Amino acid sequence: MVSAFGIKILGPSQRAAGVTRMKQIENKIFLTLSRTMAGRSLLGAVGLWRLAVDSFFDFLITRRPANIIGRFPLYAPGSRGPYPILAAMTMATIERIPSLLAELAEFSSRPIVIGTLSEQEQDARSLDSSERLGRLLKQYGSDKTRHGYHTFYGKILQDSQSVKRVLEIGLGTNNEDVISHMTSDGKPGASLRAFRDFCPNAQIYGADLDRRILFKDDRIQTYFVDQLDQESIESLRGEIPTDFDLVIDDGLHSPDANMGILLLGLQIIKVGGWVVIEDIKPAALPLWKVAATLLPAEYEAIILQTNYELIFAVRRLR
Ligand SMILES: C[S@@+](CC[C@H](N)C(=O)[O-])C[C@H]1O[C@@H](n2cnc3c(N)ncnc32)[C@H](O)[C@@H]1O
Repeated sequence: MVSAFGIKILGPSQRAAGVTRMKQIENKIFLTLSRTMAGRSLLGAVGLWRLAVDSFFDFLITRRPANIIGRFPLYAPGSRGPYPILAAMTMATIERIPSLLAELAEFSSRPIVIGTLSEQEQDARSLDSSERLGRLLKQYGSDKTRHGYHTFYGKILQDSQSVKRVLEIGLGTNNEDVISHMTSDGKPGASLRAFRDFCPNAQIYGADLDRRILFKDDRIQTYFVDQLDQESIESLRGEIPTDFDLVIDDGLHSPDANMGILLLGLQIIKVGGWVVIEDIKPAALPLWKVAATLLPAEYEAIILQTNYELIFAVRRLR
């Protein structure tokens, strides 16, 4: 089956592969064991051992005794029992909840579209577009070509003359004291410059946590943002226009940071525009399955396996 994006959709058996499959097996083992007294004792013993090890490392880092239940009240059981057991159950819940929610999401009437980047349908025009963009990204020093992302961007931006606005979170700092840096050899603004050259009529907007690398250039403006902070994202939103053709999150690759930018992107893309979240670890797939089914009907999402990690791409249909 081929999706509206021209991507081959994997069948149910292929979709269950990989990390999700492992989580399903874990869940089955957990449920089977919790049915008998001996199984529950085994789970308790394993949980206690893991809690002891985790608490030890937690203490080494924070110098405070771990308070799992206090720190994660959302996941703590609302039941009475000894602290170590309740804490071990809390951690098990944190681990299991995303895959259980993803299984629930599979019940949605909305199909979750998962494919691979290499299976994208490319005609001669989109191939040429991808190759040109790939060369520019490489020339300026972005790692997007190495990850194969130029094939996706080249395809969705093939009408490059008509692209008016692109926003990318994550400029590519070369300051190694920042999480998600590009090493000291990095070229801040590399991908922004490539998109600027590729889309001759577009204004390019960039935003990053590292103020030291913010810059201005022909058709490029950059801003401060901390994507872990909703207020900071809101303040960025106040500084930039709307009606973006493309919003990319290539900043801090953590699910909460990504969701903040997804929320921003959904509100500022034009009809036909895209929000793309890059570099998603396969282990986070369950969260993105849930996100895909929660989107309002005017948006359509696809999850793509690339030669690096996953990308989550949303298009606004109307
Ligand atoms: C992988 S680099 C971006 C590479 C660039 N887009 C390219 O293709 O050349 C990630 C960037 O995310 C930024 N970053 C890290 N944490 C952030 C946060 N909380 N908010 C915004 N940006 C962040 C880093 O400063 C870094 O510049």
